[in-house]
Amino acid sequence: MPAEVHHVTHPLVQHKLTLMRQKDRSTNSFRRLLGEISMLMAYEVTRDMPTQLIEIETPLEKTMAPVIDGKKTVFVSIMRAGAGFLDGMLNVIPGARIGHVGLYRDPKTLVAVEYYFKMPDHMHERDAIVLDPMLATGNSAVAAVDRLKETNPKSIRFVCLLAAPEGLANFHANHPDVPVYTAAIDRQLNEHGYIVPGLGDAGDRIFGTK
Ligand code: URA
Repeated sequence: MPAEVHHVTHPLVQHKLTLMRQKDRSTNSFRRLLGEISMLMAYEVTRDMPTQLIEIETPLEKTMAPVIDGKKTVFVSIMRAGAGFLDGMLNVIPGARIGHVGLYRDPKTLVAVEYYFKMPDHMHERDAIVLDPMLATGNSAVAAVDRLKETNPKSIRFVCLLAAPEGLANFHANHPDVPVYTAAIDRQLNEHGYIVPGLGDAGDRIFGTK
């Protein structure tokens, strides 16, 4: 299956992302912008979601109209920065369930080490949308999706804010069946595994820990 990358080039997303990249932007503003972008990314990632017709009654007559089954969606947040995407996504799909994958990057090897994994029941009926703002080396994303696949969800999509070419290549080599949605593909990784030009450490900027 060919690897799919959906580059979300909507001007609103691009504008807000530029503001987020600025180093002097406050935690409050960074978090608010991420929430706004999350809502816009939610539209893109759900664009081809299946709908079913239900009968409703308008003030004028009965009609059949489409709905999506939000309860079948599971947002899988890669801790901790993935949490920054959740509120915005839930504004758009409030019925979604939430799973968590806890991974940290070993600072020397940059390999992802799992410390937490919790998904809702009946994963085989659910469409999983994996959330992590930064697809850097791709190691965390690959490890998270490896584990997620063990639960056998109906479909998997991956949403990030920024991707490095190296991370995209690594992710696609391991999971060519999982489409990636990103607001930008930056130039490269630096020697510490940070995306450049990037926006710094997403977790620190979301939670104000630096
Ligand atoms: N994680 C981040 O938060 N930022 C990067 O640039 C790379 C990984």
